[in-house]
Amino acid sequence: MLILGLSAFYHDSAACLVRDGRIVAAAQEERFSRVKHDSSFPRHAVGACLEIAGCSIDDLDHVVFYEKPFLKFERLLETYLRRAPRGFGSYRKVVPLWIKDKLWMKQSIQQQLNYKGDVLFSEHHESHAAAAFFPSPFRSAAILTVDGVGEWTTTAYGRGRDNDLTLNWEVQFPHSLGLLYTAFTYYLGFKVNSDEYKVMGLAPYGQPVYQKQIEERLIKLNEDGSFTLNLDCFDYETGFTMTSESFDRLFGGPPRKPAEPLNQKHKDLAASIQKVIEQVMLRLSRRVLTETGEDRLCLGGGVALNCVANGRILREAGFRDIWIQPAAGDAGGAVGAALAVYHRLLGQPRETDGLSDAMQGGYLGPRFGKEDVRRVLDGAGAQYEELPEDELIRRTCRELESGAVVGWFQGRMEFGPRALGNRSILADPRRPDMQRKLNLRIKFRESFRPFAPSVLEERQPEFFESDHPSAYMLLVAPVSASQRGCIPAVTHVDGSARIQTVNEQQNGRYYRLIRTFANMTGCPLLVNTSFNVRNEPIVCAPRDAYNCFMRTNMDVLVIEDFFLTKKGQTWERP
Ligand SMILES: [Fe+2]
Repeated sequence: MLILGLSAFYHDSAACLVRDGRIVAAAQEERFSRVKHDSSFPRHAVGACLEIAGCSIDDLDHVVFYEKPFLKFERLLETYLRRAPRGFGSYRKVVPLWIKDKLWMKQSIQQQLNYKGDVLFSEHHESHAAAAFFPSPFRSAAILTVDGVGEWTTTAYGRGRDNDLTLNWEVQFPHSLGLLYTAFTYYLGFKVNSDEYKVMGLAPYGQPVYQKQIEERLIKLNEDGSFTLNLDCFDYETGFTMTSESFDRLFGGPPRKPAEPLNQKHKDLAASIQKVIEQVMLRLSRRVLTETGEDRLCLGGGVALNCVANGRILREAGFRDIWIQPAAGDAGGAVGAALAVYHRLLGQPRETDGLSDAMQGGYLGPRFGKEDVRRVLDGAGAQYEELPEDELIRRTCRELESGAVVGWFQGRMEFGPRALGNRSILADPRRPDMQRKLNLRIKFRESFRPFAPSVLEERQPEFFESDHPSAYMLLVAPVSASQRGCIPAVTHVDGSARIQTVNEQQNGRYYRLIRTFANMTGCPLLVNTSFNVRNEPIVCAPRDAYNCFMRTNMDVLVIEDFFLTKKGQTWERP
C-alpha cells in the first residue's frame, strides 16, 4: 500500500511517501529548487521520494493533499464579504488567482504528476494532528495543533488512540496565535512565515515590558482556553500587510524597515510577544490535560516550532511526556495527510513500542553514494582525501579542537527545518568567539542569532537542566549554572540552549564523532547549525555542499568519507 502525501501552494511545499504505514521518504521542495520556503508544486520532492522508494507514479495507491482548497476559498470569500468594502484591492488580486488555479487543485495535481487516479484531500489541522500523533511513540495521547491558519481552524485539540484521532475543540480564523506571532515578526522588520525564529532568538535580549499591553489590547484570553484578537490592530484578513495603523499607534511608530538597526524597543517587543505566546500555549496545554485526561501530549502546527514554549510546556504543564512533530509546520502536513489516509480512511492498524517514534531521526531525504560524491568532487577539481571512518572522525575532531568550522555532510538529508547532523556546520562550543565567527564569517547573518548544541544523550544532564531526550532540537532548557561559562558558543544570553540529544542508534556516525570529541577534550557536545548561508535553503546534494564550502570561510568539509580542507584547495570559488 503506497500513499503519497503532498503539501504545497502556501509555503514549504513537501512530499512524503508512506509504504504499508511506514514513512519511507519525505522531503521539502526548497532543498531541490534552492528557493527558500518554495511553495510551488513539489515535483522534485515527489521525484526524490519515488526514487528513494524505488517505485513510480503508477505504483501509487493513493495521493492525498494536506488541506481542502474549497473550504479555504470559502473562508477567503466569507472574510471579504464580512469586511467589505474594506479589502477590495486584495480581493481583486487574490480571488482571480483562486478561480484560475487553486480551485482546480485535483486536476492540477493529476496533471503535474501524470497520475490518473483520484486525489484525496485531508483537512489542514487534521493533517497537522495526524503528523503529531501517528508517528509519536504514544499509544494514546492528547493532541494540540496551533498554527497561522489552514481552512478555518487556527488552533485545535483532541485525542489520539491507536489508529484513530479526533479533534473536538477549535479556534477559528481570524483569531490565530500563529498570525499574532507573525504580525510581530512583520512589525519587527523580519520576513513573515520565514523569520519567526529570529523573533524567538531576539527575545532573550529584551525585557517583556509590552506583555501587559499585548494582553490588554491585542489578545483576550477566554475562560475555555480560547482567545480572541482585537482585529482593529491587524490587517491580514483583507489587506496586504500584517498589522494596521492602530497597531503602529499602540507601539509608537511604524514597523521597522529590514535595513534599520535593531534597538532595545525591538528586543523588548520580541521578548513581550514571546512571553505572551508561552503563556497562551501553557494555558492551552493545561486545559488540554484536564479536558482529555491524557497525560501525554503531541504537538503540531507551526507554533510547535517555538522551542522555548515547548520547553515550558514540558516542564510546567503537568504532562508526563510530550512529543513534537519535527516538521511541525506545513511541510509536515504531507506526512500527516498520508498517515491519515492509511490509518483513518483505510482503517489500517498502527503499531508503536511506546518508546521510539516513527520519524527515524528525521533522516528521510535522499542520500548520495560514495561514487556520486567522488564524481562531483572530481568534476569540481576539488582536492580531497578518502579516509576510513576512524581516521575521518579523528581528523575532524582535531580540526574542531583547533578552532576550525566544519561542514559535515552524511547519509540521508533531514526532513523539517533543522539540520540534525547530516547536513550540519559544526564547531567547538567552548570558544567564546565562535558565535560571532559563525554568524558573520560563515552564515553571513545577524550577530545576535544563537547557536544550538548537539550533545551525547547520556551526558545531557551534566550540562543542561533536562534529562528529556530532544532528538529534533525542539526543546529549550537552561544550561546548568556550573557549565554556563564553559560552552559560551551555545549558551544564549538568558542562559538557555536549544538542545539536540544524540544517541548511537539514531545517528551512529554523528554520535561517534561527538564521543571522540568528548574523549579528546572532555566536552561531549558540538555546535550544530544548519549547512547553509543566510536566505538559502539547507544544502541537499554534494554539489550544494561544496559550493557553500567554497563561498564561505568554512575551514573543513567532510562529505561521506571524503575530507577536504580549505587550505588544500588549489583554486578559489567556482
Ligand atoms: Fe499549518
